[in-house]
Amino acid sequence: MRISIIAGNWKMYKTDREAYELASFLKKSLKDVKSVKVVLCPPFTALSSVKRGIEGSDMFLGAQNMHWESEGAYTGEISASMLLSLGCQFVILGHSERRAYFGEKNQIVNLKLKAALENGLTPIVCVGERLEEREAGKTEEVVEDHITGAFEGVESEQAGKVVIAYEPVWAIGTGKTATPKQANDVHRFIREKLSALYSGEVAKNISILYGGSVKPENAKDLLSQADIDGALVGGASLKAESFEKIVRSGII
Ligand code: 13P
Repeated sequence: MRISIIAGNWKMYKTDREAYELASFLKKSLKDVKSVKVVLCPPFTALSSVKRGIEGSDMFLGAQNMHWESEGAYTGEISASMLLSLGCQFVILGHSERRAYFGEKNQIVNLKLKAALENGLTPIVCVGERLEEREAGKTEEVVEDHITGAFEGVESEQAGKVVIAYEPVWAIGTGKTATPKQANDVHRFIREKLSALYSGEVAKNISILYGGSVKPENAKDLLSQADIDGALVGGASLKAESFEKIVRSGII
């Protein structure tokens, strides 16, 4: 049984103080929620404040990116051990914004994925097609390429610890959500690929989240699909009220 995961990707929003306030508010408002794993992924600068804000709750802390080396002369970068030292348990990797604006390719995502797993961080690996790719009928090809690229050389035992987020690029921040069926079809395809790469057992246990304009109004329909195990929420995770509603939609 895969437990629902609702993760908030705060992207480059929230100062340290704002982040602390949102996190501590959510700690109170989501106190009774036990059957959903809630992960908050603020910017690096607010990780320790958010950790303080959720202290004593069942919520988890995640980062939005990391470097694959454990340390070194990499100005501006952050390593897995640094994230761990702040209490992170999750890290988002290969987000489409990193792929589009920072030149992250599969090979880099793969290095980061391995480093996260070696350090005991749970990677949330993002995959998804752009609009022109969907229109050209290449959705499955692109998603398969992202999956095989990210998992290259990852052993089955480790692969089972990864969380995947299917985020069609055309649905991110656009208000255009994939229909529950469109999303579930791709989720099922991803699970089939994982089954072929590893085993049915590994594929069955991997959580696959949907991301792209998830809102309180569409969350329940998306989350009720058989292969959708949670959501990676951008814009709607920045407001306590909408994020709380989305988390509650994940309660079974
Ligand atoms: P929106 O929910 O704002 O569309 O963003 C989705 C996303 O990119 C989450 O990682």
